[in-house]
Amino acid sequence: MDHFHYDDGRLLCEQVDLEKLADRVGTPTYIYSRATLEDHYDRLAEAFAPLEPVICYAVKSCDNLSILALLTHRGAGMDVVSGGEILRARAAGADMSKVVYAGVGKTDDEIDLALDEKIGYFNIESEAEFDNIADIARRKGATARAALRINPDVDPRTAHVKTTTGRKESKFGVDIERARRFFAARGGDEHLRLCAVHMHIGSPVYQVEPYVHATKRMLTLVEQLQGEGHHIEAIDIGGGFGADYQTDQTPAYADYARQIVPLLKPFKDGGGQVFIEPGRTISANAGILLTRVLYIKEGGSKTFAIVDTGMHHLLRPTLYEAFHFIWPAKVEPAMAPSSRGELDMPGLTKVDVVGPICETGDYLALGRKLPPLKRGDLLAVFAAGAYGRVMASNYNSMPRPAEVLIHGDEANLVRRRETWDELLAPETNPHPVPLGS
Ligand code: LLP
Repeated sequence: MDHFHYDDGRLLCEQVDLEKLADRVGTPTYIYSRATLEDHYDRLAEAFAPLEPVICYAVKSCDNLSILALLTHRGAGMDVVSGGEILRARAAGADMSKVVYAGVGKTDDEIDLALDEKIGYFNIESEAEFDNIADIARRKGATARAALRINPDVDPRTAHVKTTTGRKESKFGVDIERARRFFAARGGDEHLRLCAVHMHIGSPVYQVEPYVHATKRMLTLVEQLQGEGHHIEAIDIGGGFGADYQTDQTPAYADYARQIVPLLKPFKDGGGQVFIEPGRTISANAGILLTRVLYIKEGGSKTFAIVDTGMHHLLRPTLYEAFHFIWPAKVEPAMAPSSRGELDMPGLTKVDVVGPICETGDYLALGRKLPPLKRGDLLAVFAAGAYGRVMASNYNSMPRPAEVLIHGDEANLVRRRETWDELLAPETNPHPVPLGS
C-alpha cells in the first residue's frame, strides 16, 4: 500500500508527476511519499492500539531528518544504533525518553552521549557491554535503564541468511538460559537498572508465527525472572515486520496484531510497557529510487540497460539478492503495471538493469521483463525507501543522490545531491597532517 501510482501511463507520487520532477531535480534521486509514511505509521499504531505500544521507528531503515521529524510528530519514538543516530533523533525533535539504543559495539563516546541525552533504554547485547555502560554511568553519577536483548532461538524464516538475527549463534544478545544468570548477577546495579527484555528476531519476517513463538518464549522468561524477584517494566519485541517488495507479499498489520496483541495484553494490563521497533514496514514502500537509462548494450544473448544508479545507491539486490520492482515512469497506458512483481504482458523484453560501478555484482535486476527501453528513459526502482540511501556509499567516488519528500502536490528537497567537491573535501592533499609519534 503506497501513494505511487500510474495515471494515463505516467507515474505519480501523490499528485506529483515524477517525469516532470526528474527534469527539475535530476537523477538518481530518492522520492518519498509523506502520505505513505504517515499512513503506515497510523495503521500500525491502530492495529497494536490495545497494547498502547511505544513505536520506536528504526532510524537505520531511513534516517532523513525530515522523515524522523514527521514520525516524531506522529508520536513515534526512535530505535537507534549509534551516536550518529542519537544525534539524528535529537535533531528531529524526538522525545529522548522514547529512544531505545541497540547495537553490539557501543563505544564509550556513544554511551556518554546516550547517558547525557537520557535515552529511554539501552538494549544490552553482552555482559561486557553491560558492565562498561554501568561503569561509565557510575563515573558520571548518571542512571539509566537497560533491556537485555534475548535470542529466543526461533527461525524467523527471513528472506536471506544475512538478515537472520535471533538465533542462538547470533552475535546479537544472549540466549534464554544465559539471561537468567545475567539478571541474577547484574539485576541489582543501581546505575544501570536492568528492568526490561528485548528481542529482534530478524528482518524482514513475512510470517506471524516466528513472532508468536518468540514472544511466548520471552513471556515465559519474564515470568521466571519475576519469580526470581526481578521487576520487568517493559518488553520490546523488535522490528522486522515485512514490506511489499512484491504486491501483497507481507501480512497486513492486523494479521500481525491479531496474534501478537493477545499474548502481550496481560503484561500490559499488569502495568508493563510494550515497545516495537518497525523500520521497513513504515519506510520501504514509502520510497522509490528514480534513475535514467544511460545506455542500452547487447552482450552475447543478453541486453543490458545501464542506468545512472546501482549497488552504491541500492545495495539490497547485490547483498541479499533482493527483488525490487522496476518500471518506466512513463509508459503506454496499456503497459501501466497492475501489480508489482515479475510481470508478463505482450511487448516486454528481458534485460539486466545494471549500474556504472566496476563490479559484476552491480545490478538492480537480472533477466527482468520490461517494456522496451532507450537512452534517457526514466525508471522507478520501487520499495527503495528502507535501506536505500542509508546503505549508499561513495564507492567508485560517486556522489550520493538527492532525497525529495512529496506532500500532495508539493515536492520538497530534504537532502541535496552530494557534489564532486564534497567527495574530495575530507582529504588533506596537498597538506598531509603529521600525526607525530
Ligand atoms: N530493531 C533492531 C534491533 C534491528 O536490528 C533492526 C534491523 C530493526 C529493529 C528494524 O528492522 P526492520 O523493521 O526495518 O526490518 N539492511 C537490511 C536489513 C538489516 C536490518 C538490520 N536491523 C535490508 O536491507 O533488508
